Amino acid sequence: MYTSQIDNDFAQSVKKGLGSSRQKRIESKYFYDAVGSTLFEEICRQPEYYPWRVETSLLRHHSKEIVGMFDENFALIELGSGSSIKTRILLHDLILRQPYVYYFPIDVSKEMLCTATRGLGSEFPNLRASGISSEYVEGINRANKLIFSNPQIPRRKLIIFLGSSIGNFEPKDSISFLQQLRSTMDKKDGLVVGIDLQKDKSVLEAAYNDSMGFTARFNLNLLTRVNRELDGNFDQHHFVHHAFYNSRFKRIEMHLLSTKEQEVYVGRLCETFGFQAGETIHTENSYKYSLEDIRSMAEKSQFTLRAAFIDEKNWFSLAVFSPG
Ligand code: AVJ
Repeated sequence: MYTSQIDNDFAQSVKKGLGSSRQKRIESKYFYDAVGSTLFEEICRQPEYYPWRVETSLLRHHSKEIVGMFDENFALIELGSGSSIKTRILLHDLILRQPYVYYFPIDVSKEMLCTATRGLGSEFPNLRASGISSEYVEGINRANKLIFSNPQIPRRKLIIFLGSSIGNFEPKDSISFLQQLRSTMDKKDGLVVGIDLQKDKSVLEAAYNDSMGFTARFNLNLLTRVNRELDGNFDQHHFVHHAFYNSRFKRIEMHLLSTKEQEVYVGRLCETFGFQAGETIHTENSYKYSLEDIRSMAEKSQFTLRAAFIDEKNWFSLAVFSPG
C-alpha cells in the first residue's frame, strides 16, 4: 500500500542518514507529516519569516500581469506545499478571464494536499480541483494525461512552484529538476518559481530562528516522527534546534544538535545510534540566490527568463520561465 511504502522510505532514509559515519542527516522532505505541516503554516505567520509575506505581496502586485503573459486559457499545476492563500490570488485572477479553471496541486504529502484544496470548491464555484499525490515530475505527467484525455481542459498549462522550495535542492540538482520540468512542458506553457534571494545574514538567520520557537518545534518534530513511526526513543530535551547561514555555500542550514553524549535506539531499525556532545543531525539546506544566479539557472536549463518580479528590498523573487 502507498502509506506503508512511504513509511518504508522513511525507515530506509533514517537508517542511512543516522548510520552515516560522517555528518548525520534526515531529509527535509520528512518534515511534513500532519504536525509538521501545521507547524510550517505557523512559521509562515511569524513576523521574522519574510519569505511568505514578501512572496504573497509580490503575487498580489503581479498576478494579473503574470496571468496576462499567457494569451491562451490554461490549467494551473502547483508543485508542493502551496499555501492556499497564495494560490487563491492567482486563481482569483485566472477565473476573471476563463469560464473554468482546472487546478492540479501535486504533493507527496496527503496532509499538504488537503490544505491546498480545503474550502476552494465553495469559494470558487468554477474551479475544478484535483489533487495528485505523487512526486513532482510524475505528478505533472499524470496531470498531462488528464489534460489530454479531457477536451474541456485547456491544453496550455502554468506550473507554479512557490515558497522558495527550490532552495531545498542542491544547486546542481535544481538545474536538472528544471530540465525535467521543461521536458513536461510545451513551448507555450509557463513556469513561475518563487526564489529566495541572498541578503543580510541577520535577516536570514532571524527567519529560521523565530522568537516564538515554531521553527525549533518544526525541526524537533522530526525526532517525534522517528519515535512515533519507527519506535525510536529520542529524548527531545537532549537535542536543540540550530539554524545558521553558511555564507560559503549561500545557504541556511538547519541541524538538530545533541546537547550531550548519548545513544538512541530506533526499534523499527533494530539499531542504536551514538551521538557525541555537540554532534548534529543535518535536517535542511535552504539555498539563497542572486538575480544573476537565476539568469544562469534559466540558461543552463534552457528556459527563457521572461520576468523576475522583485520586492523593493530585493529580498525575494518570482521568476517566470518559458521553454525555448
Ligand atoms: C518550504 C523549504 C521553502 O526553506 O524556508 C521554513 C522550509 N524550513 N523554515 C524554507 C522551512 C524552516 C522552507 N521551504
